[in-house]
Amino acid sequence: MVCLSMRDRPTLPTQANPLLTSRRQTTSMRHSPTQPVMNRKRPGEVRDAIVRVLEARPRGASVSEITQQVTSMIGAVPASSVRSYLQLNTPALFARMDRAQYALKGFSYEPAPSTAKAAPRIFQFGKATLVRDDCLSWFERQPANSLHGVVTDPPYGLVEYSDLEQEKLRSGRGGVWRIPPSFDGAKRAPLPRFTVLKATDLDALEQFFTAWATRLLPILVPGANVVVASNPLLSYVVSSALSRAGLERRGEIVRLTMTMRGGDRPKDAHVEFSDVSVMPRSMWEPWLVFRKPIDGRVQDNLRKWGTGGFRRISAERPFGDVIVSAPTRATERALAQHPSLKPQAFLRQLVRGILPLGKGVVLDPFAGSGSTLAACEAIDYESVGVERDRKYFDLAIEAIPKLSKLALKPD
Ligand SMILES: C[S@@+](CC[C@H](N)C(=O)[O-])C[C@H]1O[C@@H](n2cnc3c(N)ncnc32)[C@H](O)[C@@H]1O
Repeated sequence: MVCLSMRDRPTLPTQANPLLTSRRQTTSMRHSPTQPVMNRKRPGEVRDAIVRVLEARPRGASVSEITQQVTSMIGAVPASSVRSYLQLNTPALFARMDRAQYALKGFSYEPAPSTAKAAPRIFQFGKATLVRDDCLSWFERQPANSLHGVVTDPPYGLVEYSDLEQEKLRSGRGGVWRIPPSFDGAKRAPLPRFTVLKATDLDALEQFFTAWATRLLPILVPGANVVVASNPLLSYVVSSALSRAGLERRGEIVRLTMTMRGGDRPKDAHVEFSDVSVMPRSMWEPWLVFRKPIDGRVQDNLRKWGTGGFRRISAERPFGDVIVSAPTRATERALAQHPSLKPQAFLRQLVRGILPLGKGVVLDPFAGSGSTLAACEAIDYESVGVERDRKYFDLAIEAIPKLSKLALKPD
């Protein structure tokens, strides 16, 4: 795979998108599309732009689609030049597919088969839009520079949200999901076991997140924040994949919360080693903070795209990287029975912070029960979510309106 620096990635005008048409005002900010002007290209510029277009379209694109996107990236380029670059660099760099489509050679990631057999479904509530689809396929259909921030809680073992493991979880057979014992009469939520991941699983995880971020980048505006929930065991893998794909690491947000991980005594020897914890008892959750490289200075990016920083909590308080957060409350869990439900109090603070001017569209590509969308709705932000699993999609349709209207007590 050819990796290109995102630093010199040119800005792309926002294009029409049927799903996001209601976002037109927020998307455009102070940015008006200009007529393409034919300008001189530096050596390799057209070829590199074609590579970037095809990195985001692993199943290929036609010459006219490629020409359109290349033009929006680097200025007007005739279709005849694009065609000759493609022909000249095939088979070294590109592969010719059926129906006069081209793809990058060796770009082999195929999205996991979707559980959504029918055409994608769309649910709308207020300023929230939820799509049932595989997010990698969905990314490919979105226009360049159309989303302003990402807050998401992805699957980590890659298998825990597969059809097979979900069936085991739903039938109470566990599988990769560990069902913690009841405590004080309260049934605790199942947890996926990440300590069982092998080196090959970690490689697969890194490949998945590299492919994910590579496809995400083109559809984000420059300066868009990308905040990804993680855990202390796997955050380094995800972080390296996102950096490799061209996102800039900007730190981590600590969700200060008691998770159910670690702290246990050695298995089958807990009496003998009663003073030992095998792993530190986890009392925080990392949310990785990345950004699509900005276009000029922060002030230029803010003016042009409305992104490039965080929204302050108040004039006196900047947005900080520690958020105190109680575990998800029973009232919320009753409204949205998803095994990885994140709490509204935390999400509302987080999503508010990621749009520095409070304008734009927040994406959650692993929407689950729709908790991020509900948090956006509660604070009057526009949002779009993608969820692959039919049951969670249906759950989110019920949960988003209810979660968004929840009145919250401070944590
Ligand atoms: C960790 S959960 C997110 C739960 C969310 N934090 C909540 O509060 O409901 C990840 C979700 O991503 C979904 N998912 C997994 N792979 C996906 C993909 N490729 N595209 C879209 N959704 C996917 C899973 O079905 C699961 O619901």
